[in-house]
Amino acid sequence: MKYAVVSDIHANLPALTAVLEAIAADGAQRIVCLGDMTGYHTQPDACVRLLREANALCVAGNHDRAIIGILPTEGFCPQAQQAVVWSRERLQPGTRDFLASLPLKRSVDGVLVAVHGALHPQVGCEWVRLDDDYKRAQSLDALAVHPSGARVCAFGHTHRPGVWERQAGAIRRVEGDTVTLRPDAWYLVNPGSVGEPRDDDPRASYLLFDPAARSVRFRRVVYDRSPVLAATRAAGLLPPQRLPWLGEPARSRLKKILRRWGLYGVAALQASALFDGVDLQVDLGLVAQGQADAHRQVLQAGREPDLGA
Ligand SMILES: [Fe+2]
Repeated sequence: MKYAVVSDIHANLPALTAVLEAIAADGAQRIVCLGDMTGYHTQPDACVRLLREANALCVAGNHDRAIIGILPTEGFCPQAQQAVVWSRERLQPGTRDFLASLPLKRSVDGVLVAVHGALHPQVGCEWVRLDDDYKRAQSLDALAVHPSGARVCAFGHTHRPGVWERQAGAIRRVEGDTVTLRPDAWYLVNPGSVGEPRDDDPRASYLLFDPAARSVRFRRVVYDRSPVLAATRAAGLLPPQRLPWLGEPARSRLKKILRRWGLYGVAALQASALFDGVDLQVDLGLVAQGQADAHRQVLQAGREPDLGA
């Protein structure tokens, strides 16, 4: 059995449609969805319907639970909170019932454990973020004693693809588009996000897991994001686009370069100064205006900026 693992669709129907077509071409027999089918964008019902039609095995994400009113949105950013309210008012009863029925953890055929955020918490596993080795060790501990006997746990929530391996007590990140799994190790794998990737690659992300071949393969799919972003803006869930003349992939590449240079490094500031009346760091959504103003005041005063602020 070959599995396709998807996560964090976030109501982005064109991204999900493109991914499901790619999965069919890959020949995967079973789809596992790690949650956050809803939130951010405007087609939650259609996304849930497609996944149900594909017989995907799903767990609930923090956005899914917030939208049906069983998780508070205090920890959500303003954009996410707005989308929760918008979706809650429009969600079809059948979608709501489906989301309410979803488990937080799911064992898949004894070869995989699926969660949205993390495996180890008894409460809050849908919103705990596996973003450091301390938390990854806790989830790997939970995997080692999981009754299913699975050696692979798939998680989402961070919107960033990756594989972490624990062998002989040591945890390391395994690089590569295809990873071969060792029989004596335990793994945390993240497929990245279908609808809202946060690794500077705007293509939809998912992974293929083949337990018989002991392999994990990362896949990216190109689709047209423009209609999705236009619909999300029209619904008031995204601010108007700044620098509309700067299309993809140039926009994403420029953001990546600016981050690499350091947002307030000399090169980044010089790049911004090339565009009259434009603040690249703010207009590309890398920092808020207030944060940029504070940093510039520090720079003008001739002191080193506190980049940790
Ligand atoms: Fe998410």
